[in-house]
Amino acid sequence: MKGLGFLAHGGLDQVSWVDRPEPVPGPGEVRIRVRAAAFNRLDRFVLAGIPGVPIELPHILGSDAAGVVDVLGPGVSEVAPGAEVLVNPGMWDGTCEYCLAGQESLCRNYRILGEHTQGSATEFVVVPERNVRAKPPVWSWAQAAAAPLVFETAWRALKTVAQLRARETVAVIGAGGAVAPAAIQIARSLGGRVVVVGRSQAKVDRALALGAEAGLVATSEKPLDRLLWDWSQKRGVDVIFDSAGSPTVGRSIRALARGGRVVVIGASEGPQVEVDLRTLFWRQASLRGSTMANRSEFDDVYTELVRGTLQPVIDSEWSWAQGIDAVHRLTSPEVFGKVVLKGPDGRS
Ligand SMILES: NC(=O)c1ccc[n+]([C@@H]2O[C@H](COP(=O)([O-])OP(=O)(O)OC[C@H]3O[C@@H](n4cnc5c(N)ncnc54)[C@H](OP(=O)(O)O)[C@@H]3O)[C@@H](O)[C@H]2O)c1
Ligand SMILES: [Zn+2]
Repeated sequence: MKGLGFLAHGGLDQVSWVDRPEPVPGPGEVRIRVRAAAFNRLDRFVLAGIPGVPIELPHILGSDAAGVVDVLGPGVSEVAPGAEVLVNPGMWDGTCEYCLAGQESLCRNYRILGEHTQGSATEFVVVPERNVRAKPPVWSWAQAAAAPLVFETAWRALKTVAQLRARETVAVIGAGGAVAPAAIQIARSLGGRVVVVGRSQAKVDRALALGAEAGLVATSEKPLDRLLWDWSQKRGVDVIFDSAGSPTVGRSIRALARGGRVVVIGASEGPQVEVDLRTLFWRQASLRGSTMANRSEFDDVYTELVRGTLQPVIDSEWSWAQGIDAVHRLTSPEVFGKVVLKGPDGRS
């Protein structure tokens, strides 16, 4: 089968169509005919090569998928052929101490579709049956593919890890891209008073339309810590959702209120930061990491999505033939929401 991926690690110029054998579902797994796939920053990291993560070449990109179940592996009982589904891209073994405690996102063998396995930008993907949920009938295939990874990540980070409570202030660092538009909606739905700190007025305006009550544009003269300090009238912010890393996390910590929490889900602009520990202990603040979500958290955020309290945000939809351009779009500074690739048959 054809897939959009790469034959060798490198930059965007390595992205090409590749051939892989059609996957066969094993026990407890289902095969899905892909109707839409969606990308994340992760795809750029996988393309470049992630230290310590061996990748089988050629490799197919994409962690999010929606499509139609077409073949069942042995023992599958909950899903039938023809079911229209979306895929939770986080996979766990179900047997380690963390899985047994319901902490699947900490699984010792945790894998992400498209990172530790072949990805979704192809004709068929195979995942455990427990990783599929019904596609809400009112959604397009593109919406179904745009939702899972970013919403589960932001849900766990804000609700479980940062323990965001109603009426607390919450800053989302970065207005656009894939995950921030999900984080803004979740922070709002949990009752937070959301402030977005972006890098362009145009994207901040779009973030305001998703439910943020304030939008600030960071510059070198007015960096995010000063903006948030002023906005909070020198009180600081209760929860800060940060994924940029080096340029922002130290400043996020400085912008915390007493008892505040910075939750870091990524380090896209660099992994090293300098932390003034005095700020942490004096304000009794915390810096926490978060990745993907437990099974129950995925179900909780899926319920909110089905109810319509949260909505997938699509930056752009690309036909199968435009696949290479779709991956290039990920590097545009204008991206707001998810970049989605339609499946080979073009239905949406
Ligand atoms: N741990 C997990 O489970 C998990 C899940 C999803 C994503 N992630 C990670 O989270 C990060 C973001 O993912 P994504 O897919 O949303 O990436 P993306 O589409 O490339 O978006 C990048 C985001 O970072 C912001 N940003 C970049 N540089 C910044 C800076 N100097 N100051 C402030 N904001 C800055 C951008 O803000 P503007 O739009 O305002 O420019 C945008 O919101 C990546 O590192 C990704 O790997 C982790
Ligand atoms: Zn496990």
